Amino acid sequence: MAELTADVERSFAGCEDERLRVLLQALVRHLHAFAVEVQLTETEWKRAIAALTATGRLTDDRRQEFVLWSDTLGLSMLVDAIAHPKPDGATESTVLGPFWVEGSPELEYGDAIFTSAAGEPARVHGRVLDLGGSPIANATVDVWQNDANELYGVQDDDAPEAHLRGRFRTRSDGTYAFLGVRPVPYRIPNDGPVGAMLAASGRHPWRPAHIHMIIAAPGYETLTTHIFDAESPYLNDDAVFAVKPSLLRRFVRDGDRWSVENDIVLVPAP
Ligand code: BEZ
Ligand code: FE
Repeated sequence: MAELTADVERSFAGCEDERLRVLLQALVRHLHAFAVEVQLTETEWKRAIAALTATGRLTDDRRQEFVLWSDTLGLSMLVDAIAHPKPDGATESTVLGPFWVEGSPELEYGDAIFTSAAGEPARVHGRVLDLGGSPIANATVDVWQNDANELYGVQDDDAPEAHLRGRFRTRSDGTYAFLGVRPVPYRIPNDGPVGAMLAASGRHPWRPAHIHMIIAAPGYETLTTHIFDAESPYLNDDAVFAVKPSLLRRFVRDGDRWSVENDIVLVPAP
């Protein structure tokens, strides 16, 4: 068996793209080691191929079941940790998820990201800062979140096109603000092969309540992150392993709405 592994590895020796050779040879080594470790049976191999085939069939422009495998197996968070090590004081990153939509409406400071929503209104506000605490003006803050029915606008045929998403610019003092709703926990899409894997292994599909953000400013590394509701269930067993304690925020009562403060610290672009 070791000879077979070495043979397959050697078949890539002439690959002129050095990085591709490293990736493929390591993939062969680890894939073979996995099969040997678990003594993979032919039936299991066939079932894995069937799951991958179903994943391909389900995946299109709107549904990305391959990324969902990556998310639920913790690979997305591992790749994120490798790509974005953050110095102390910087806001940490987390998964993008499948519900970000390019070209959200450009809105003004304090605007609502809904026309009518089922959820309880929540004002999200804070500053975008650099590592020294200076404000970053004119940063883009792209936000999206789900409503009280668990759904993101893109999942909800009854919701307006840009429901609960928008793009804001920080003011000269680095501040941004918008009116969203208090997010609720929700289930990741679980009607495909990933859902079958979760059910078969006794795992649940829930994510804790959160609001997504992508923050971008010239000269700084673009940050993809969440605010997690510090009181949400599933903070300790997020289906996609994306919770970082530094991203928890408290929603506090502010008259007839909620309010949550969230400063964001960006690192300089490499
Ligand atoms: C989300 O937070 O939108 C999400 C992330 C990973 C998988 C599914 C959903
Ligand atoms: Fe989400």
